[in-house]
Amino acid sequence: GRTGNANLTTELTSGLHQLASELTLPEPFRRPLPIPAVLKPTRSDAEADHYEITQTRGRAEIIPGLQTEIWGYNGTFPGPTVEATRGRRTVVTHTNRLPVPTVVHLHGGHTPPQSDGYPTDYLTSDESLAAAASPAPAMSMAPGSGMPGMAMPPDKEARVEHGSRSYDYPNDQRAATLWYHDHRMDFTGPSVYRGLAGFHLVRDEEEAALPLPKGPREIPLMICDRAFNADGSFQYPSLDPTLHQHPGVQDQAMQGVLGDVMLVNGAAWPQLEVDTARYRFRILNACNARVMRLALQGPGGARPIVQIGSDGGLLAAPISHRELVVAPAQRFDVVVDFSGYRVGDEITLLNLAGAGSAGSVMRFKVTRTVTDTASVPDRLAAVEPLDPAAAMTRRTMDFHRYDAGWFINGHPFDPAVSEADVRRGSTELWTLVSDYHHPVHIHLIQFQVVSRDGGKPGPYDAGWKDTVFVNGGEKVEVIAKFDGEPGRYMLHCHNLEHEDMTMMANFRVV
Ligand code: C2O
Ligand code: CU
Repeated sequence: GRTGNANLTTELTSGLHQLASELTLPEPFRRPLPIPAVLKPTRSDAEADHYEITQTRGRAEIIPGLQTEIWGYNGTFPGPTVEATRGRRTVVTHTNRLPVPTVVHLHGGHTPPQSDGYPTDYLTSDESLAAAASPAPAMSMAPGSGMPGMAMPPDKEARVEHGSRSYDYPNDQRAATLWYHDHRMDFTGPSVYRGLAGFHLVRDEEEAALPLPKGPREIPLMICDRAFNADGSFQYPSLDPTLHQHPGVQDQAMQGVLGDVMLVNGAAWPQLEVDTARYRFRILNACNARVMRLALQGPGGARPIVQIGSDGGLLAAPISHRELVVAPAQRFDVVVDFSGYRVGDEITLLNLAGAGSAGSVMRFKVTRTVTDTASVPDRLAAVEPLDPAAAMTRRTMDFHRYDAGWFINGHPFDPAVSEADVRRGSTELWTLVSDYHHPVHIHLIQFQVVSRDGGKPGPYDAGWKDTVFVNGGEKVEVIAKFDGEPGRYMLHCHNLEHEDMTMMANFRVV
């Protein structure tokens, strides 16, 4: 069988790329928080809004005085935000001008198979085909090496297109914070690391009718860690033994890629000037491998973070957290109330799980006193709990490390093998078992967490989710209704290095 991305496995295991300590890290809380631009449709008709995105190289000054080459949707990192309305189609035509094939996945989208971004449904570019035809070494992980990874495992079902391809999203789902990112077989980690990620928001009337913070006080926060070489280029892969998030884990190389610079919307440790009012933040953990434990620290001490939504949209009722554990790919929609503060106060968003420079994320500075009319209602939305007794089928998905790599149910990913043939419209209960901590993501559906180790779901499991954090040794039961178009979908670990080391599996809706 395949053993995944051989170079990555070797490089991580041997720990060749330690973080460059010669780089002077930027001073925190200097740069204003950037807000990704909202993409304008190129045209709208009765059925759909049509968008165009070019995937291309860009430059960003992330480390002051240095230029970082990024790969971006429209050349920016993060990519532009797509805003969709529930029930109205969004057609996004992507053009690939990068040196590698790409795949776009709408994470959390209730998307038919032909637009889901299956890892072998490549969109090739002229440059990627030229590179594939050259006698240069077939794979390289190192950004800037000029040797794009070209491994394309054979897959009879793959839908390969060249130049441009259109992804058609029905958006027939609740209002939610979705995101789109690269999903290429074996190379999702390095491509996302270089910048291929953006927000896709679905809005609906139910949510719009609530008195939640809106407009300039509703802000998406894409949080991710990156490491840099001394010249400002991204360092991938990178490893830092001092940046452990799970102190019990001896073998840090298998943890995935961590960086020592925390970025929010592409800026290192930014600052946002705020009014004495409530703000809604759509938090996305876009790290390749880092699990964050977020908390707010202000003049009066710790401040609660009020969760109003999860991956799949609004919760039934708000939940107040002292800290928020956010695993890669998860979204937490939160409201933070700055109304008790005075002008001049500074409130820091900390990452309690991160050591050293990874221990803080961004800062809020109160600059204006206002009267706030927004509020968080006690009831947010109807969330119907799915009944485990209604599950027609139960299955186990076993996430396990073997010497050869990270496998599901005992074998590496194979595009031709289906782990589950699920009857269309049926409800299934899946038990996720793991020997290590993994953020487990299932395409197509939103699920509910039924139990953790036989007990109640955890404090961060509420609502509809598409990604659940499974701790080592734990059993997590999730339930979902598989009401999608027939075809091939997947589930996988969203630690992107584990994913690239074959921790993926197919399921089919039949
Ligand atoms: Cu966000 Cu299959 O991934
Ligand atoms: Cu994993």
